[in-house]
Amino acid sequence: MDTAQIRTRFLNHFAGRGHTVVPSASLIAQDPTLLLVNAGMVPFKPYFLGDLAAPWPRATSVQKVVRTVDIDNVGRTARHASFFQMCGNFSFGDYFKAEAIPFAFELLVDGYGFNPDDLWATVYLDDDEAERIWQKLLPAERIQRRGKEDNYWSMGVPGPCGPCSEIYFDRGPAFGREGGPVADENRYLEVWNLVFMQFERGEGAGYEFPILRELPSRNIDTGMGLERMATILQSVDNLYEIDISRPVLDTAGRLTGTSYGADAGADVRLRVIADHSRTAAMLISDGVMPSNEGRGYVLRRLLRRAVRDARLLGAREPVMGELFAAVGQAMGPIYPELVDDAETITGVAVAEEASFAETLRTGTTIFDTAARQVRAAGSTTLAGDEAFKLHDTYGFPIDLTLEMAAEAGLSVDEAGFRRLMERQRQTAKADRASRRIGNLDLSAFRPILAAAGPTTFTGYEELTRESTVVGLVGIADGLGRMTAGAGEEVGVVLDITPFYAESGGQEADLGVLRFDGGEVEVLDVQRPVPELVLHRVRVRVGELKVGDQVHADVDAGRRRAVSRSHTATHLVHAAFRRALGEGATQAGSLNSPGRLRFDFHTVGAIPPSVLADVEDEINEVALRDLPVRAFVTTQDEARRLGAMALFGEKYGDAVRVVDVGDYARELCGGTHVGSSAQLGAVKLLSESSISAGTRRVEGLVGIDAFRFLAREHLLVSELATAIKARPDELVDRVGDIVGRLRDAERELDRLRAAAVLAGLSGLQMHRAHHAEELIGRLPDPLVAGALQLAR
Ligand code: ALA
Repeated sequence: MDTAQIRTRFLNHFAGRGHTVVPSASLIAQDPTLLLVNAGMVPFKPYFLGDLAAPWPRATSVQKVVRTVDIDNVGRTARHASFFQMCGNFSFGDYFKAEAIPFAFELLVDGYGFNPDDLWATVYLDDDEAERIWQKLLPAERIQRRGKEDNYWSMGVPGPCGPCSEIYFDRGPAFGREGGPVADENRYLEVWNLVFMQFERGEGAGYEFPILRELPSRNIDTGMGLERMATILQSVDNLYEIDISRPVLDTAGRLTGTSYGADAGADVRLRVIADHSRTAAMLISDGVMPSNEGRGYVLRRLLRRAVRDARLLGAREPVMGELFAAVGQAMGPIYPELVDDAETITGVAVAEEASFAETLRTGTTIFDTAARQVRAAGSTTLAGDEAFKLHDTYGFPIDLTLEMAAEAGLSVDEAGFRRLMERQRQTAKADRASRRIGNLDLSAFRPILAAAGPTTFTGYEELTRESTVVGLVGIADGLGRMTAGAGEEVGVVLDITPFYAESGGQEADLGVLRFDGGEVEVLDVQRPVPELVLHRVRVRVGELKVGDQVHADVDAGRRRAVSRSHTATHLVHAAFRRALGEGATQAGSLNSPGRLRFDFHTVGAIPPSVLADVEDEINEVALRDLPVRAFVTTQDEARRLGAMALFGEKYGDAVRVVDVGDYARELCGGTHVGSSAQLGAVKLLSESSISAGTRRVEGLVGIDAFRFLAREHLLVSELATAIKARPDELVDRVGDIVGRLRDAERELDRLRAAAVLAGLSGLQMHRAHHAEELIGRLPDPLVAGALQLAR
């Protein structure tokens, strides 16, 4: 059974049992407590917690998942992968254990053809109920009880959790010891985890977390690893050898001149290369870019580990292009975006590989120097801070340092290295904490969301409106409260707001909220959770209370200036893609009042002539007075219409498309001008590199562009007056003046040097006379020699 069939059979099984089929969400977690989606239930977390009403009582999905906690096991065991697809069925307060267990059992036996004699189950220590249900399906001796480590599931961060029941397949005596999953998890392979979501956990390490409350309803969350199931049903040894992974493995073998299966050590590396390339391609296709923090760092590490293993196996040429092509071929039927966006996706990996090659070159030189110094000092240990510097400054992975040290007959002070790493982690953590929205604990928003529902945003159509305060949160303490007095800073949640919360590179709206007897100033607007808009305000006059009616007033001038920047950014994006090719896609942007910054992927600097052409074209397009239109559609339709930046959305979600006439079409949630002529003018100021393969262009829009040009013009006139030339003669005349100045300086230097020499010889003569005088009083025979020396 190929992987696609296993997948379809899973979805059909549950669709036939009243479940709505929900497409996979993007790997980029919407949930602020997670970097990447690490389980099938993540997109449904608000439904489990009761924060949002579930749109359906039952759902089923095949979710893309990335897990890097087990990264050291990847390639070494048969069952660990950094990317995998989790098939799941979910009940939101609908059915519970009595249905969930037989649902799974039936699919395994009737759908996938498992022999019931090969199946085992585990239940949580005190879960008599689950055990009783299992006893109707399996003999008692094949049901085992396990503790919290094994049979209690949580996302690893605060959120829903509960006891679970796992189903195992006995691969037979060739794979290990008798005695069920308790005895050997290699022989007894876990195939499905059924979680009985009943509680909410708080902050805590490992399983040392407090249970905060019982959830409002009893829910089901299950996870069946698609690749693991394929491993069993295709009778292969491990999940890198199944139909959708094997081609990547073989490509890795070909590129490194290594044949899979010949050497156990090399096989591990080949599996790592295959695994990491696949995960990297999936991450990039969801919009993650390599960087030094967060998700970007996860991606960077995966790509670098893959490149490094390929090199260690003997690859001399870049490998990423072909590996990504193999991933696209193997996974394209399920994820067409891998094929449709292949050029962009592969471009990112190829650029990262090139920059890592550069890192390896510099790092190797630094390492060699350090190694020489260690030996010269009579030592055999490379200090921890040297290893740390290699890692931190030159991006040199520690395992590479260790390996090179071993080859050079040196050891590394690893403990010292880890201490420095830990210190850096702590600093980064403190940094992140201080950047959270005024340190607000997200739990403060739950009661607000539960009572008032999601905020309605009306700012596409209007800039002022009457609305109601539905929640207040103290900025200093993060606690919900009922009132805020003059001088205080608080977060305000309104039922309806015209204020745009910072997102998609567009700065937040500013403005005021007026209420009976007072007024507050809006300093910032954010979405701490996707459903709520939070206005950070300072109370100027009066006392603001939950329940107050307010008149919300966005600063219209600022909004218009920001909207001009945003529309201009779309034109810049479209113009660069026309000038440099489809691969010139957006990496980031910032739209402030009258000012834009646009980062995009391309190799090498942008020639000044291209920059000038792009600027010219944008202004010409602006003057065509193209209408700017926004409409909401399905993602498939948007893709069909050729909208840019399809990355990172949830499949199946409605998306907003913004058109500037027929010139630019992009997915975008931002605000824009009504027609391109409202931009007035666009001036591109500079172009620079921000990282390997990524360039930054900055520009001014509207009155800011005009004022800049006017200032420049004034400067030129003043200069022309000062040197008495016409503006068009300036370049020649200034060149001429600079040339003459240089000649004059040279002449001056020459004269100075001559004068110094003349002065010096005078001084020497004076010294010599003086010396002769002194020496004259000394006895011979010293005199003659001394005189000689003095002269
Ligand atoms: N959420 C459960 C898991 O990831 C099903 O194992």
